[in-house]
Amino acid sequence: MQSGTMHTNYKVIVYAVFLISILCSSTLYCAINKNDAHIYFNGKNLTKATTNDDILDLSAMNITGIAPGAFADNDAVKILRLNENLLVTLSSATFRGLNHVKHINLMGNLIEQLDDNAFSFLPDLEELDLSDNSLTALSPGIPKSLPKLRQLHLNANKLFLMENSFVGLQDLELLELTSNNMFDLYDGVFNGLDNLKHLDLYGNKISELRKDIFQNLRKLQELDLSENIIWLIHEGAFQGLKSLEYLWLNGNQLSTLEDAKIFQGLRKLKTLYLHHNPISVLDFNCFRNLRSATIEPGFRINNKIIMNISDFIKTSISKYTCAFENYNEPYTCHINITLTDANNEKIRKFGISDL
Ligand SMILES: *[C@@H]1O[C@H](CO)[C@@H](O)[C@H](O)[C@H]1NC(C)=O
Ligand SMILES: *[C@@H]1O[C@H](CO)[C@@H](O)[C@H](O)[C@H]1NC(C)=O
Ligand SMILES: *[C@@H]1O[C@H](CO)[C@@H](O)[C@H](O)[C@H]1NC(C)=O
Ligand SMILES: *[C@@H]1O[C@H](CO)[C@@H](O)[C@H](O)[C@H]1NC(C)=O
Repeated sequence: MQSGTMHTNYKVIVYAVFLISILCSSTLYCAINKNDAHIYFNGKNLTKATTNDDILDLSAMNITGIAPGAFADNDAVKILRLNENLLVTLSSATFRGLNHVKHINLMGNLIEQLDDNAFSFLPDLEELDLSDNSLTALSPGIPKSLPKLRQLHLNANKLFLMENSFVGLQDLELLELTSNNMFDLYDGVFNGLDNLKHLDLYGNKISELRKDIFQNLRKLQELDLSENIIWLIHEGAFQGLKSLEYLWLNGNQLSTLEDAKIFQGLRKLKTLYLHHNPISVLDFNCFRNLRSATIEPGFRINNKIIMNISDFIKTSISKYTCAFENYNEPYTCHINITLTDANNEKIRKFGISDL
């Protein structure tokens, strides 16, 4: 009897799976279970998804659209995964009903447009990942509807951002904007980010840093500007970055560092990364304000010279050490050096006496 019941149950399950596979392949209506979630489709359109679990995983399901109200009554869900789907747009209040969701992952979709209210009514949302989509702009309603957001990932989109793009995100601590279309940092673009600690702008096409561009980022600790095409840093560009500890400027087009005021204001800086820049003219006075910073990993100029100026920064402003990489032979040099001609395998001119 016992085994007979089990056998019948088994047959029912096999039949149910068979039925579901027929329904799913018919592209009309389909209900499937994934990690205890009940998920309903109309074609590739998600019409309803509910779970009692705290994770609702809808990743990699080829979803092309989400019908209004699809997430109603999901009080338990804290994490919603919709990454690696085919979503192109998110309409108003798409996520309404996810009353306690903290993290939404939309990475790797085809999203070009977001309704102003796409993320409204999500009072607990702390982390939003929109990386690897096709966004060109962020409409002003979006940051305003996310007052508790702490982490925003916008990597690998096509964003070019204007003034006040993030106003409303007063609790945001991490903002990632790597590999976008940012060829300039517009005045006031970071307004309102009063609690930002990490800003990542790696791999854009930024060519200049304007005066006061980071002015209001008083809590920022890490700023990554590496792998851009920055060739000009205006005086006062880093003004206001009172808490900054790490600054990545490596992999840019800086050829001249002469202005004694370019790094002014970076009182807490611990490490400044400048490698992989074609630096040929350098006045060490520009590091004068960096009280406790290390310039890492020393300069490498056309792979010929490594200049180690960490001693200079730590001790006095009168001496630093430099060495030829090939011979590894240390020299003691005075400051206020102009380096020219890094191309000629020979240093044409050092403004020092000891060499
Ligand atoms: C999504 O679509 C691809 C390509 O058509 C297919 O290979 C894959 O099995 C689909 N995945 C799901 C979960 O339907
Ligand atoms: C599919 O979803 C979109 C929202 O993305 C909705 O506007 C549309 O009516 C849905 N289509 C069907 C056939 O359910
Ligand atoms: C620079 O000097 C410091 C101490 O003087 C040393 O620890 C560090 O390895 C040196 N860096 C390079 C790249 O030579
Ligand atoms: C640095 O060198 C320039 C000439 O190249 C000179 O005019 C200037 O006084 C020097 N500054 C210091 C602090 O030695």
